[in-house]
Amino acid sequence: AEIYLHGLAGQTPALPTDPARLEEAARAVLDDGPFGYVAGGAGQGATMRANRAAFDRHGLVPRMLRETTVRDWSTTVLGTAMPAPLLLAPIGVLSIMHEDAEPGVARAAAGLGVPMVLSTASSHTIEEVAEASGEGPRWFQLYWPTEDAVTVSLLDRARRAGFSALVVTLDTWTLGWRPADLDQSYLPFLRGVGCAVPFSDPAFLAGLAASPEDDLMAAVGRWVPMFTGTALRWDRLDLIREHWDGPIVLKGVLHPEDALRAVEAGMDGVVVSNHGGRQVDRAVGSLSALPGVVAAVEGRAAVLFDSGVRTGADVAVALALGADAVLLGRPYAYGLALGGQDGVTHVLRSVLAEMDLTLALAGHADLAGLRSSPDALVTLPR
Ligand code: FNR
Repeated sequence: AEIYLHGLAGQTPALPTDPARLEEAARAVLDDGPFGYVAGGAGQGATMRANRAAFDRHGLVPRMLRETTVRDWSTTVLGTAMPAPLLLAPIGVLSIMHEDAEPGVARAAAGLGVPMVLSTASSHTIEEVAEASGEGPRWFQLYWPTEDAVTVSLLDRARRAGFSALVVTLDTWTLGWRPADLDQSYLPFLRGVGCAVPFSDPAFLAGLAASPEDDLMAAVGRWVPMFTGTALRWDRLDLIREHWDGPIVLKGVLHPEDALRAVEAGMDGVVVSNHGGRQVDRAVGSLSALPGVVAAVEGRAAVLFDSGVRTGADVAVALALGADAVLLGRPYAYGLALGGQDGVTHVLRSVLAEMDLTLALAGHADLAGLRSSPDALVTLPR
């Protein structure tokens, strides 16, 4: 209503509400390197296309003459209260998009009460982003270092900075084959961007002869093996559990058996995700994997979802398929590129408003109502 009313006065929104136009506008203001890094995917982009195609195979079945004028989408996921089942996915290196970077995203998210998941590859430190978040809900995403002392130190800092849940990303123990970045020889990390978290970490710095400011090459030389190769094995999750009191969520789960193993390992949740199609080309569309994981988990852990979410209607479909909450990825990075903190607020408000409108017009007034409507969704033949 706000947008239409402004339209009466001749004002259109400062940024597009349409996700494709948002991406095009971001392309226009960014250099090829940063834009390609964010927009690009693994290989030929088949996984990115599969993520979108999976949405096209599902449809809401709107119900009529139901009372939906008063609506409440608030929920609590793993102890975190949120106004709607939406979080900001961890995206690293945000200073390549806009100088507001992660602190700007944190302020935008906190302003709406939307939880932000802060990346290990942040271009600002854990402590700086926590301060920008204020009272806002925040989770920390861990890229699992190969040295335990660094892992323990990062977890300790995140806990002290008020991050309540931990998201351990499993699918990126090395970077995928990303032609957009390869063809431009563009990798922000090699310039130190996105290394703020390790570069400010005492356990990481202890392994260096000089500070990163004095010897960037040596610091990057330590960073690369620290976050490449895998310290990850199922039995090593004990280390994380031992050093993290709060909920732990494994991100990048697509196979129902991996979801089961996560439950058996005592994890509190999983994120069904293929990293926005950036890791394995020709992977299954993330939404296609969601029902299998929901069925395997049987309510014993939270099931979150990302990859390919562009609109509020997409969020609605993922919820109807059983996700407890949805993470928004690239669209908020484009909002940041175009309008800094305000751009992120615009994108978040648009997605939340469309989700609310879509579910209301489909006949639902709250999540309990949606979840008790098994007829809310149809799956189309391929
Ligand atoms: C990511 N993603 C990501 N995930 C993570 O766990 N840690 C990280 O540092 C990053 N960094 C990152 C950078 C960029 C530029 C992108 C686009 C993505 C993955 C992210 O959390 C999420 O899984 C995807 O973005 C979801 O896909 P869509 O919604 O972008 O298609």
